[in-house]
Amino acid sequence: MSKLLPHAAAGLALPRWPWPAPALLAWGAGWAAWWLLVAAGLPPLLALAVGLVVALALAARCTGWRRRLIAAAGFPLSALALGLAAGLPSWIWLLLLLPLLAAYPLRAWRDAPFFPTPVAALDGLAALTGTPRRVLDAGCGLGHGLAELRRLWPEAEIEGIEWSPLLAGLARLRAAPLGARVRRGDLWAGSWQGFDLVYVFQRPETMARAWAKAEHELAPGAWLVSLEFAVPGVAPKACLQGPGRRAVWIYQPAAPGAASMVGGNGR
Ligand SMILES: C[S@@+](CC[C@H](N)C(=O)[O-])C[C@H]1O[C@@H](n2cnc3c(N)ncnc32)[C@H](O)[C@@H]1O
Repeated sequence: MSKLLPHAAAGLALPRWPWPAPALLAWGAGWAAWWLLVAAGLPPLLALAVGLVVALALAARCTGWRRRLIAAAGFPLSALALGLAAGLPSWIWLLLLLPLLAAYPLRAWRDAPFFPTPVAALDGLAALTGTPRRVLDAGCGLGHGLAELRRLWPEAEIEGIEWSPLLAGLARLRAAPLGARVRRGDLWAGSWQGFDLVYVFQRPETMARAWAKAEHELAPGAWLVSLEFAVPGVAPKACLQGPGRRAVWIYQPAAPGAASMVGGNGR
């Protein structure tokens, strides 16, 4: 989309707001443009087209194609839904929001939207880290990451923590036959002490925080593994990459006071 609207987007120097603010801005600006133009007497369909251009231009400023898609889709989808459901009472909309909020409380939205770990995404990891005794999937969603971790380490003690009550409940169902445990809670609040490997599939903005927590709480020799998103400014021990797969970034916090460096002995 940034290719479709390069000039419109380039003219908008927006601050880097935390997600999902850019999506809410794109949706809100689309509707604000529509409302202003209709109030000024423009035919609603023409106002809708202008609203769409405004929303797309703002969506193009988001980082990553998934976020651009979410930001771009909000205005046209909500316009379509409102058009289709013009006869419905307004409280229906509040009712529709409840399952969304149960699946996706706002804190989880800010930290990472729900995208599951693909099958085989962690292939090759065990050869680099050896066999950890205790493993945590921090933000375990529906448990896809737990299943991949179990495939790698059949004997390990595997746990997941998930903020969304609905996702945590569903993850428990998936985790039970795998012999993994799932807790409902905040991944930042609970300690990572005692884990030999913490796996995260979060988002770029949270990686610095994850690294700080890992450095503070993980024992020397333990691992922080991130699917897709690297820790900014920190050299990984290794990175699994290849065509058709998401990068797996592998970090090993140094003993407190030591500098992070590439290479080393692993464990
Ligand atoms: C991209 S999904 C990854 C799910 C799972 N780890 C996997 O790879 O299949 C990120 C998950 O982290 C959860 N999450 C985000 N912030 C969280 C927090 N502060 N505490 C616990 N879970 C959180 C979200 O609800 C979402 O389910």
